[in-house]
Parts: sequence; structure tokens; C-alpha cells
Amino acid sequence: MEPFRFHLFVCTQQKPEGVVSCPASGSFAVLDALDRQIQAGGLDGDCQLTTCGCMGLCDEGPVMVVYPAGVWYRRVQASDVGEIVDAHLRQGRAVGRLAWNDASAMKAMAVEHREKFRAAMTARDKAGTLPDHLDQMIRGYMPSRCILTALELDIFTAVGDGATAEQAGTRIHANARAVGMLLNALVALGLLSKSGDTYRNTPASSRFFVQGSKDNHRNGLLHIANIWHRWSTLTDSVRSGTRIPIGRDETPEWTTDFIAAMDRHAKERAPSVVKALGTAGVHRILDLGGGSGAYSIAFARASSDVHCDILDVSEVVPLTTEYVKQAGVSAQVKVRAGDMLTDDLGSGYDIVMLNAICHMFSEEENRELFRRARQALALKGRLVVQDFILNRDKTGPLHAALFSLNMLVSTDSGADYSEVEYTQWMKDAGFTDICRINLPGPSDLIVGR
Ligand SMILES: C[S@@+](CC[C@H](N)C(=O)[O-])C[C@H]1O[C@@H](n2cnc3c(N)ncnc32)[C@H](O)[C@@H]1O
Ligand code: FES
Repeated sequence: MEPFRFHLFVCTQQKPEGVVSCPASGSFAVLDALDRQIQAGGLDGDCQLTTCGCMGLCDEGPVMVVYPAGVWYRRVQASDVGEIVDAHLRQGRAVGRLAWNDASAMKAMAVEHREKFRAAMTARDKAGTLPDHLDQMIRGYMPSRCILTALELDIFTAVGDGATAEQAGTRIHANARAVGMLLNALVALGLLSKSGDTYRNTPASSRFFVQGSKDNHRNGLLHIANIWHRWSTLTDSVRSGTRIPIGRDETPEWTTDFIAAMDRHAKERAPSVVKALGTAGVHRILDLGGGSGAYSIAFARASSDVHCDILDVSEVVPLTTEYVKQAGVSAQVKVRAGDMLTDDLGSGYDIVMLNAICHMFSEEENRELFRRARQALALKGRLVVQDFILNRDKTGPLHAALFSLNMLVSTDSGADYSEVEYTQWMKDAGFTDICRINLPGPSDLIVGR
């Protein structure tokens, strides 16, 4: 069976630095060019483009194979892609100059590679060498820390359209030698380019990290840099069972970055939440801990019949109010200060939303919150929890399991919870028709009526 006319496999097997591999020879650029040109050429319906692991022909990479004919191409570069798309995918003719037809040589190379690989693995195993993937996982913080420091120092803005280490260092009041080391590492990470002594932003870093760019994410990303300091307390948090105060998170800047970070994700997820819940029969929504107001804003935009009340802590209310004002929905979305665990929540709401809220609280606090939410709802109203939901034994998904630790280091008693737990708490609070709605991305909804 051939669901597509052509199935293209491009090798993207990552190997340790210095080891010959298709990615090191440019296979990601080939993949990207194929994807763009297949789309641009209107060939999406004919072609399936897939990445694949090492085929044992690394010295001849980047390697790709086109099925059903099984044409192997070697040493393909992004500049060859136009010809492959035109001759092979459009006209059905293999590109002779790139095709590799010597089956016995290919097999010999692949077998030799496999044997060498197995011998190397056996030797490392015998020697008790730490496997590469464990080593890489353990050092995983280094690239992250490098980028977070660059964001904290606003180094991408300092590099601007081009700067030497000295110039960038002067702009951010930092040591030129150290700035040069950081800039070189950012080049190695693919976030800057370097020509002579001059560093430049890549298109992605100019777009996402430089002040003044429409898509600048720096503020929201600085929250991750702030959270880094909390993660440094993980060992002590595990010992003590709760967060260790670090005294860095009470400033207005911290709160602004935090709400910007919330907004970054919420803006993206809000349309799918509105779609999943619908607006039919929805007139009043209570958005507890609404943050930037992204969910209320999305509901207000989806229907002029919907009115939302956002409740958040007093430090956040001015920020929420500004986000709502900027969105032009102040007539439909009202913001008030309060504590969702103790203050009066009002009554008669069609929906009470808890987006990214429950993970801040303990089981007891969530149970209390669900009881309070039920009292705030109209008959047949819905309680909506959106969160990273753990599987039954809480060992995954990975993102949710890690985020649970994020809450350990950040809160008194927060954690991620499972669908089983949310369902039980909703039942115990008197909700019925409880269901899970999966959303695209890492968080899902649990809805009870
Ligand atoms: C993780 S953020 C989620 C924000 C928003 N719902 C979203 O998904 O983007 C948690 C929000 O709850 C607010 N918050 C925390 N404790 C609260 C409380 N006791 N009462 C009201 N709001 C609270 C925080 O200020 C913050 O805006
Ligand atoms: S890395 Fe691509 S064939 Fe080995």
C-alpha cells in the first residue's frame, strides 16, 4: 500500500560532536528546504517527508532515500533540493548525479559501520563508560544556562545588527573577555553567527530575543531565568518537602515577567479552550487567577454575549487590567482583586475557569476551591480545570512530572495531579458529567457540571 506517491526519508541522526553524521553535513538544512519546496510546489498531497536514524552511510551524508523506488541520494545539500523536487517528485526521474546505485558498496559500508558501532559500544560497556545519553542529560543545563544569561544581560539586543565582543560588553557593562566567551558559545548553539570579530543575530534570535521586535519573547523568557534560581534549591526542597525561600521573587519586575510568561502560553492555548467549551449558552465566566486575562479575552472576542470576571491578587490586577485594555475588551472583561481561597467568589456563573491554578495548591486547598467554585456556579454551570495532567501512577508525561517539581520548588504545597485525582475531587464537591478534554499541547481540561 502506498498512501503517498513518494515517501522521503532524510537522516537526522545526531551524533556526539566531532563524529561524522548527516546533521553535521547539513541534513537539517536539506530537510527544511524539502519541506518548504514541497509545500510551495503544491506537492504536499503526493509526498510524505520523514526524518530517520543513521543508515550507516555517514561518510557520504547527508543521506536520503525516496520510496517506493528506493532511490538513495548522498551528499545532498540544500542547494540540490530544487532539482530533486522538480526532477524526481514532479517528473518521476531520479537525479542521476546525486543517486547512489552501487548496492554492494553501500551494503559493505553500512555493515562495516554497524560492526564498528557494535564493537565501540561493547568496548565502552566493558570499560564501564557512562553512556552518552546519560552524560548529555546530566550536562543539559549548560546550553539552557547560557541562553538564560544572554537573556538576562539582553545580549541579543546589545549585538543588534552586528557587534564585537568589546562593543557588546560596553553596551551591557560586562567584561569583554567573558562576553566574548558567551558570544562564542551562542554561536556554537546556533543563536548567533560570527564573521571575523563581528557577531550577528540569526533571524530567529533577532525575531524572538531583540528589544523592539514585534515577536520579542524576552520578558516571558526571563521568568524561566527567575525560576532557574528556584530549581537550584531542588535538593534542599526534596529534603524539606517544600520550597526554600530565596527572596528574589517579590519584586514588581518578577511579577511582570511571570505574567508575561503566563501570557506567552495562555494566548496560544486560549483559542482551543474556547473551541472545546463553546460559547453557546455562556453569559458569565469567572476566571480565577486569570493572570494576563488571555482566556477571558479569548472568550470575549469569541462572543459579545460573554462577560468575564477575573479575580487575581492585588499585585497582578494592574497588569491584568492593562492586558485587557490593550485587547480592547474592557467592556466585557472586569478585573478584581481577591484571594480565591478565602474571598467571596460571587454566584450565578456559567463557567468557573481554573487555568494553570490547581498545581499551585495542595489536595486540601483544591478540594476547598472546587467546593467554592460549585457555589459560584449557576445550575448546570461548568467547572473547568486546565493543567498538566499526570498519568495514573504519576510517572508521565515527562513535562508534567518535571513541572510537578517546578511547583515543589516554587510553592508551599503545590504539585501536578492526575485525572483520577481531579475526577474524585470534582465528584466529592458535587459535580457530575465529569470528562477530560485533550487539547493540543501539554495541558488538558477536566470539566465537571
Ligand atoms: C500560574 S498563573 C495562571 C494565570 C492564568 N490563569 C493563565 O493560565 O495564564 C496563576 C495565577 O493565579 C494568581 N493567584 C495565585 N494565588 C491566588 C489566590 N490565592 N487568589 C487569586 N489569584 C491567585 C497568580 O497571581 C497568577 O496570576
Ligand atoms: S548519520 Fe546519517 S547515515 Fe549515519
